[in-house]
Order: sequence, then structure tokens, then C-alpha cells
Amino acid sequence: MAQIEKANGIVDWLDKRLAIKPLMKVLMTEYWIPKNINFLWAMGIVLVVLFTLLVISGLFLLMYYKPDTKLAFDSVNYTIMQEVKYGWLWRHLHAVSASVCFLIIYIHMFVAIYYGSYKRGREMIWITGMVLFGLFSAEAFSGYMLPWGQMSYWAAAVITNLFGGIPVIGPDLVVWIRGNFIVADATLTRFFMLHVVLLPVVIMIVIAIHFYALRIPHVNNAYGEEIDFEKEAEKFKAGNKKESKVIPFWPMFLSKDFFVASFFLAILFYLTCYHYSFALDPINFDPADHLKTPPHIYPEWYFLWSYEILRGFFFSADLGLIAFGIANVIFMLLPWLDRSNVVAPAHKRPAFMVWFWLLVIDMIILTIYGKLPPTGINAYIGFAVTIAFFALLFVVLPIITKLENKKNS
Ligand code: HEM
Repeated sequence: MAQIEKANGIVDWLDKRLAIKPLMKVLMTEYWIPKNINFLWAMGIVLVVLFTLLVISGLFLLMYYKPDTKLAFDSVNYTIMQEVKYGWLWRHLHAVSASVCFLIIYIHMFVAIYYGSYKRGREMIWITGMVLFGLFSAEAFSGYMLPWGQMSYWAAAVITNLFGGIPVIGPDLVVWIRGNFIVADATLTRFFMLHVVLLPVVIMIVIAIHFYALRIPHVNNAYGEEIDFEKEAEKFKAGNKKESKVIPFWPMFLSKDFFVASFFLAILFYLTCYHYSFALDPINFDPADHLKTPPHIYPEWYFLWSYEILRGFFFSADLGLIAFGIANVIFMLLPWLDRSNVVAPAHKRPAFMVWFWLLVIDMIILTIYGKLPPTGINAYIGFAVTIAFFALLFVVLPIITKLENKKNS
């Protein structure tokens, strides 16, 4: 065993056993962040806070929830909401955090797109981010099923049914996923397992990889400026803090993030206590009934854009399914669809700026139409915005960014 001398204090005691001082340097005090970033760069930490709240509130809900089709609805709507002290608070916090989490994920994603933070060495950050998006989607979908209300049941029926469209193995795959021929008790218990164990564990691992992927390329900055981090860090350490273009992750960067996160938490708790209804669908307060299909089946707001793409090809369910599959992975390809070498905010790239806002508007229209019945004129508008979505990503983006490259060479 190595010689360990008597420690002078708790930090020294831990350092002698776990080398916490060098670890803190690598992860915190000598992990350098550019100075010129704004509050939008705090969204990553806000997401960490939200995920933590989801885990904590989920643990409290888990104490009373019953994963059984005969008991699930009552365990949520009577036991937790009416009998358990502050049960309503944990449920509202869980539902509101889930909904707000997607809003912040979309902001975080679109900030990265606006500033080109997915390019030139940052591809792994982007890819792990997209994997997190997929995992959060699966987490939200499996959680939505647990109260076993009408929307839980029918959303699960519609989404699991989609797998039936896969050639050859489709029908068997649907039965395998459901554990039954229809959505039933076996489906509920396996989605329960996914929601409370497997997916949260995988999400934690992928969040760690997402952070690790930031380590070498570093966080981007508001001007897209290429910073020599080593040189700037030396300046900071030598005491030229004003001149240096970087600050340490701890305490400087995180203290700013904590300020944004606290402001955000105040709004979140206000929503949780007074305006939680946006996160709970009224139809889901009716117990699941496999004999009574609701007039409109639609997912939560954050899935509406891709749901509209699924329905966009109203004349062919197969094309809709293919489009839906591509829409869910297309953003993963963004670092390669954007052919430009320029890493700069969109307001310094005129054509890209127009493209960016067209994409945002297109996805908002898809979201709005995703909630409307796909009949009459709605079906044609849905089709047009679906085509526009793919054209913007597969055709317009590669062309304008290639031209941008030519102009700059
Ligand atoms: C949902 C869980 C997520 C967590 C906890 C998370 C966390 C973070 C954190 C803490 C940062 C560094 C600070 C910042 O820029 O905010 C970051 C950066 C980044 N994230 Fe995420 N993120 C998540 C999801 C995503 C998603 C869905 C994407 C998009 C596909 C994404 C893409 C990025 C990119 C490109 C950066 C680098 C930004 C830059 O260099 O300026 N992340 N993330």
C-alpha cells in the first residue's frame, strides 16, 4: 500500500485518498469557458436541474404508483392527487418539468443551430445531444402511459402500431413490443420498467458523455471566434483576468448559470402551483377504455411537429411512416448537411439566417396543424409544410452553405 501521511483537514484527507484536487482542476477550476457567451448558454445547466427535479419528483410518485391496469389510474388520480399529503405537488412538478424540459431542449438545440455549435470538432456534442433528445422522447412517451388514462392508452396504441409498418417483421414486432395483441397489462409493466429504470440510467450515462464531448473542442462562443484556450488560460492564471478571453467553469461560469437557473426555478414553481393544466391533458382524466376511441388522438405538444409529418402524406400511410422515421433522425445529420466551414452566429450569415427562421416557422406550423384534425384543407397544409421541412434540410441547407463556402474561398 502507498504511504499516506497524516492529513491536515478534510479536503486534504480526501485528496490523499481520492486525488480530488487534480480532479477538481480538470473538471472545474481549470476547465475553461469563453467569456463572450450569453444566458442562452445556461440552458444546458437548466436541463440538468430539470432532469434532477424529474428524478426526485418521480421517486416520490413511485412510492404510491401501482403499475397494474386495474390500479394505475386510481393510484395516480385518487391516492396521489387526493389522499397523499402534497402528492399533487409532486405530480404537478413532474408533469410541468417534463413539458418545460422539452421547451428548454428545443431552445438549447436551436441555440446550437443558430451559432453553428455542431461543427468543426463539436460533432460528438451534437450527436450525443440528439441521442439525449431520442432518449427523452422515449422517457416522456413511456411516462405518459403510466396514469392509464384515455390518452395514455390510445397514444400507446397508435405509436406501438406504427412499428407494424416495418416490412416483414412489423406485425410480430408490434406484438413483441406490447407483450400482447393489444395494449394491455404486459405493455404497462414493461413501459413502467423503461420509464423508471432503464431509460433514466441510460440518460445519466449519455449526459456524462455529452459533457465529456465538450472537453476537447470547448464550448462555442457568441461570435464564433476561434480561441487559443491554453494561451488565454495562462493569461487568466497569471492574473490578467480582464484581458483573458476565458473564465474557469467553477466558480465563475457556474455561478452565472446558477443565477439563470434560480430565475428559471421561480417561474417553474409558479407554473407548478398555479398554471399546471397545460401539462396535463383533460382527456387523460378519463380512465383507459379500449372500446372507446377518443375523437382526436394527438400527442403532447412537443411531439406534434413529427406527428404532423407522420400524417403529412395523407394519401399514403407508408410514406408517412418513412417520413416520420427520417424526421426523427435528420437533425443528427446536421453537421454534414451544413457544408459551410464558417462557425459564426446566424446574423453574420445572411442566407443561413433566412434558412434558420424558415425552419423555425415551418416547425411551429407543423406543431399547430399536428393538433388539428387532418381533414379538408388541413391535410393539404400539413402536406405542404412537411415537404417544406424536408426541402429546407435536405436541399436548401446544403446548397446555401456550399455557396457560402465558395464566397469565402
Ligand atoms: C437533455 C439533456 C441535455 C443536457 C443535460 C445538456 C447539457 C449541456 C450542457 C451543460 C452544455 C454546456 C453549456 C451549454 O452550452 O448550455 C451543453 C452544450 C451543448 N449541447 Fe447539450 N444538453 C442536453 C441535450 C442536448 C440536445 C438535445 C442537443 C442537440 C442535439 C444538445 C447539443 C449541445 C451542443 C451542440 C452543445 C455545445 C454548445 C456550444 O458549444 O456552444 N444538447 N449541453
